[in-house]
Amino acid sequence: MCMKMESPPSVCSDPGCPVLSGGVTGMTVGVWAIPLHQRPDLLEPCADLVNSEWQRSHGARVHALQKSCQEFPVALVLLQGSGNRDGGDGETLLGHVRLSRVVSRPGSLFVESVVVSKAQRGKGYGRTLMQETECYAKARGFRRLCLTTHDKQHFYAHLGYVLSMPVQNAGVMASFMPMEVLERFSKLPGTDDTQGEVQGGPPPPSPPQIPPSFIGPAPSPLPPPLPPTHPSSLPTPPPLLLPPSALSCHPPPSPPSGLPPPPSIPPPPPPPPPQCPARLVFQTLEETPYRDAKGVPIFWMHKDI
Ligand SMILES: CC(C)(COP(=O)(O)OP(=O)(O)OC[C@H]1O[C@@H](n2cnc3c(N)ncnc32)[C@H](O)[C@@H]1OP(=O)(O)O)[C@@H](O)C(=O)NCCC(=O)NCCS
Repeated sequence: MCMKMESPPSVCSDPGCPVLSGGVTGMTVGVWAIPLHQRPDLLEPCADLVNSEWQRSHGARVHALQKSCQEFPVALVLLQGSGNRDGGDGETLLGHVRLSRVVSRPGSLFVESVVVSKAQRGKGYGRTLMQETECYAKARGFRRLCLTTHDKQHFYAHLGYVLSMPVQNAGVMASFMPMEVLERFSKLPGTDDTQGEVQGGPPPPSPPQIPPSFIGPAPSPLPPPLPPTHPSSLPTPPPLLLPPSALSCHPPPSPPSGLPPPPSIPPPPPPPPPQCPARLVFQTLEETPYRDAKGVPIFWMHKDI
């Protein structure tokens, strides 16, 4: 249970948050997250942390992290220590995550650059980092976290994320361009603008449960699903959970019949030409139809919080 307390200055005010721990004679020792723009002294170490995973010049990284601001993008840092807002002895920088707005999805945030320092991995801090991120997003009225990953889809699935469709990350553009302008220029075909997502409002009604393997429609800017090149090396796809007709543009064949229809009944009118407004996309945690800008397979995931 996360206690409401002055210090450490966790981003989380949710009494159900499991992040903070312990306390010794008034001095709380724990793990918490804080927006980087509230701790500019951590810019340099944070740049080193992110660069230890994704190499970039130190100056460019600091510059990017300096963009963290209340209006997004927000860089959150995960800290362990005595809870002194201004830093201090014994404080350890454990992790980093960046949050951006999502175009046309006012209730969603895009999560990226999730990293735990190499020395601290495998100790539960990745989970804590994502929990704190959820707390922060929830406290600011957001209801969904979206992300992409090349190879950590099992980690995220373990934390409750599910496979989903692509969204558009507003990135730093949202900090200098009104969202309405971004939305006008950045539309993913087939996406619904409303989706019931209202920042600060009640959560949207749950959509009908779609089997996770079938997500549609596929956005046209992305390359179509690639046929498996080595079928034998791929896992067997799960059984189809939708009737085959739902996956086809063509009408189902007529059931065989031994007798012709009685002459008095006129033949039914020909079916309308098939329309395929949405192409269903097959994806699993092992196989994704999506590719990044370099053509590398990428998994899209989200979690409703
Ligand atoms: C991914 C990363 C953030 C995970 O952090 P971590 O501190 O090692 O993870 P945790 O110890 O908190 O693990 C939390 C849970 O996830 C599980 N888990 C961790 N990594 C996993 C993986 N790759 N696949 C499946 N499960 C995983 C753990 O077993 C643990 O399960 P449990 O709580 O039931 O015991 C960390 O490995 C990292 O920084 N990697 C490099 C950067 C990176 O790839 N980031 C992701 C970009 S999309």
